[in-house]
Amino acid sequence: MHRPVVIAGNWKMYKTGEQAKNFINELNPLIKNSFAFVYLAVPFTAIKPAAEQAKSGKITIGAQNMHDATEGAFTGEISASMLVEAGAKFVILGHSERRKIFNETDAFINKKMIRAVKEQLQPLLCVGETLADREQGRTAQVLETQLSGCLQDLDKNDLKKLIIAYEPVWAIGTNQTATPEIAQEAHLLCRKWLAGKYGEDFAQSVVIQYGGSVKPDNAAALLKMPDIDGLLIGGASLTVDSFSKIINSI
Ligand code: PGA
Repeated sequence: MHRPVVIAGNWKMYKTGEQAKNFINELNPLIKNSFAFVYLAVPFTAIKPAAEQAKSGKITIGAQNMHDATEGAFTGEISASMLVEAGAKFVILGHSERRKIFNETDAFINKKMIRAVKEQLQPLLCVGETLADREQGRTAQVLETQLSGCLQDLDKNDLKKLIIAYEPVWAIGTNQTATPEIAQEAHLLCRKWLAGKYGEDFAQSVVIQYGGSVKPDNAAALLKMPDIDGLLIGGASLTVDSFSKIINSI
């Protein structure tokens, strides 16, 4: 099956709205001939200006997190409908920094997944093992646990726009990029799990991105692997030069 290529930037806690507008303005002309879909997950305050600036190009703007409740006494949190109103089209859920620093569990991420789908926000679900998991031979088990926990009570009609990002925790921000072979093996594992739960046709339709120290010089080799359909990029999405090079490397 022919799957789209989706290259997503995850800006984490970098860039103001003004910086986001300038970035998009500079990036747009450089990527206009790429056939990749280009996503940018920006800080909450940059969503509206970024979405307005992105209207004339091919970049889709999204968020990096949200709460599962529609509203309520949750100081400092943000709801799906607020993100949609600001112009977000997708939301990253279950990033390893949320899991590790903010103690997010698969059960909580699952609630957010259900809410995102209800509010028509495209979910970009992150999964990935730690170095200890890998060294102890638990990679498959960890990925399966995260997938089944985060996707519980969601059927395939809910998940038509699902994107999964395989991000081995040991590769994020470390310059220890997974080799294309290691990444491919994990992607295949995720796809097989999806096939077991939702059927082969569905599994073949899901975009599975790789994330973890993707740079202009390793992007093309990763994207050549049969089950790697895109990339989720942190550090290298922060400059127009490196992000555009990655987008144009396919
Ligand atoms: P990195 O981050 O590209 O800086 O390793 C990836 C991510 O956290 O999504």
